[in-house]
Amino acid sequence: MKLTREEQEILDGKKNDTAQKAMELLVAVGECYLAERMVPVTSVHMSSVNPVTAGKGGTKFIKDLAERGGKFVIPATTNVASIDPWAWQEMGFSEEIHREHEGLSGAIEKMGGLLCNTCIPYLIGHAPRMGQHVAWCESSAVVYANAVLGSRTNREGGPTALAAALVGKIPAYGYHLDENRYARLKIIVNTELKGDTDYATLGYFTGRIAQDRVPIFSGLPPTVSQDELKYMSGAIACAGSVSHYHIVGVTPEAPTEAAACGPMRISSSDTFVFGPKELKETEESISKIGPGEADLVVLGCPHASIHQIKRYAESFSGRKVKRGVEAWILTSSLIKKYAEEIGYAKGIESAGVRLVSNTCPSPMPLEFFVKRGYRGAATDSPKMVYYISTTKGVPCYYGSLDKFIDVITSKR
Ligand code: F3S
Repeated sequence: MKLTREEQEILDGKKNDTAQKAMELLVAVGECYLAERMVPVTSVHMSSVNPVTAGKGGTKFIKDLAERGGKFVIPATTNVASIDPWAWQEMGFSEEIHREHEGLSGAIEKMGGLLCNTCIPYLIGHAPRMGQHVAWCESSAVVYANAVLGSRTNREGGPTALAAALVGKIPAYGYHLDENRYARLKIIVNTELKGDTDYATLGYFTGRIAQDRVPIFSGLPPTVSQDELKYMSGAIACAGSVSHYHIVGVTPEAPTEAAACGPMRISSSDTFVFGPKELKETEESISKIGPGEADLVVLGCPHASIHQIKRYAESFSGRKVKRGVEAWILTSSLIKKYAEEIGYAKGIESAGVRLVSNTCPSPMPLEFFVKRGYRGAATDSPKMVYYISTTKGVPCYYGSLDKFIDVITSKR
């Protein structure tokens, strides 16, 4: 890799030893991916604050960096944590996991990290601009950043994002380069999509076909909402390794199909239709149980926006979650506070639904699920199906809330 003088000095240890460690890691990763240079990044979104996945070694590594005076040189936010640090006791988490969580969070905060613990940093003030290079973790946020905001990031892992925060650089490969951002397959949408969950189903359908290729969508209305794009971004990333997409006339790199394809020509064998049949079949293929078998309901994946919380509050109004069913709406702590202040939270909680902030089932410890012994879960997000079924072993029903609200609640 060709390094600038400043980058070489960091690598030679002329700045400090934590920055040197970070640069060593980034150079090694860059050489693996044949990157020719580094690019400056304007922000980092770190991986989950999760002592379980970081393990003892990872946790010690992060704490050591903080002890040795490591400091983030650009804004860095955190993805969902393994527990809600303000409601861990009432949710039944152990003292031990709380202690480990506090230790890891403390180290990140000491280095300058902002503990927002959410997968939607772009909805709480951390939104990079078009063309800016960033180093983000969290697959749904990475897709949203590339596709909807037009900023540039690969799907970073915990160590590379941490290193990028310490030196403000990342190797230039993958989605940082123009040639990897062009569309390589096309999805023609010829059915009406009604709401967030239908967009998530389209994302899931596309992720399965595209794998790591960049898709372009035609036939979607220019009125597609932020929440619909958010749900689509989460689903497309969980069904494949897609990290970027274009929608003609909607996303910033696709004012026209030709602009989004650049020099690429998409053949008819790489063109797919998503019609009413594909919508129905894809949705049905995700469910493994009926909604009546669910004793856990999880809504808001990626974390719910204030608009989604308002809609959930309207749906649950005049209803009560049935005995034996636990229902959660996931969101960021900032949006939860907002929902409390304007009254949506009260309505939701009086229906017996918990507004869960800072966390989600994905990074929660498996023991928590084993102890609770959930038999089945219902959710409006394919990404949540993926995590609850594969990492916690709980079979899922998938559909929009209006399809199963009568099953999980009774009218008051
Ligand atoms: Fe966010 Fe957890 Fe879903 S991190 S995208 S709520 S699996």
